[in-house]
Amino acid sequence: QLYKNKTDLIGILLPTVANPFFGELTAALEDRLYQQGFKVIIGNSMNNPQKEADYLQQLLIKQVDGLIVGSHNQGIQQYRHAGLPVVSIDRIMNQDIPVIASDNYRGGQLATERLIAQGVRKIIHTNGPHDLATPAQRRRLAYEDSMKEHNLQPITYELDFNISTADKDKVFQRIFVEHPDVEAIFASNDTDAVQIIQLAQASGRQVPRDLLVIGYDGTQLVRELVPQLTTIIQPIAQIAQTAVEVLQRRLAKQTKQKEYLLPVSLWEGTTG
Ligand code: RIB
Repeated sequence: QLYKNKTDLIGILLPTVANPFFGELTAALEDRLYQQGFKVIIGNSMNNPQKEADYLQQLLIKQVDGLIVGSHNQGIQQYRHAGLPVVSIDRIMNQDIPVIASDNYRGGQLATERLIAQGVRKIIHTNGPHDLATPAQRRRLAYEDSMKEHNLQPITYELDFNISTADKDKVFQRIFVEHPDVEAIFASNDTDAVQIIQLAQASGRQVPRDLLVIGYDGTQLVRELVPQLTTIIQPIAQIAQTAVEVLQRRLAKQTKQKEYLLPVSLWEGTTG
């Protein structure tokens, strides 16, 4: 008699569902997995490698059939050696693990080209730490390439992931102090973009009259609350659906493809 060695449990590890992008992505993943007969265990790593390692260990003890991971600042070796199918979403892992992400280079290009086309020259970009393999680094690269193509000087401000909103305020305020002539800001996510708009307005700058701002992600939440925000839409539902399909193919040992790049699009609001 064949023993079916399956739990139909999938582990999902992400930075934090408090971030609307990861929250919506988690909801879409869970729903898709549920439709396919799986249940999920969700962990928020909070970008804390120790918490992530603890979760990974527990998920292995619970004998999950597979893992969907979007948070792995460290511990890549652990995933490699976990001995079960792993799919990475939104972040680059290593050559063995498939990555499902949107086309972040194209997104960075669309945002930067959009600002340049509006005649502004001093465009500043905010991004996460440059030494992590996040997809936002491709946005940064595209921003730098587009700026250089137009003979413009790229200027990037790096923000740590776990800093408080108040500390982010300080970094964004520094932009206005150090670059009072800033004409546009390309933020690497929507929540930062909204925060920047609020700070700009508090400092007497009107958006878009005095400052253009473009965000990134285009989550449903932000598009409903701030429909005027110009942003790059990541296809969250499509990322989730592809991740689940690839995981199922990996479970069935049917695919070796490594990278799945999904299209982004520009949401033409009025802020940038
Ligand atoms: O804050 C969410 C951002 O972090 C998203 O843009 C996502 O792609 C991740 O890198």
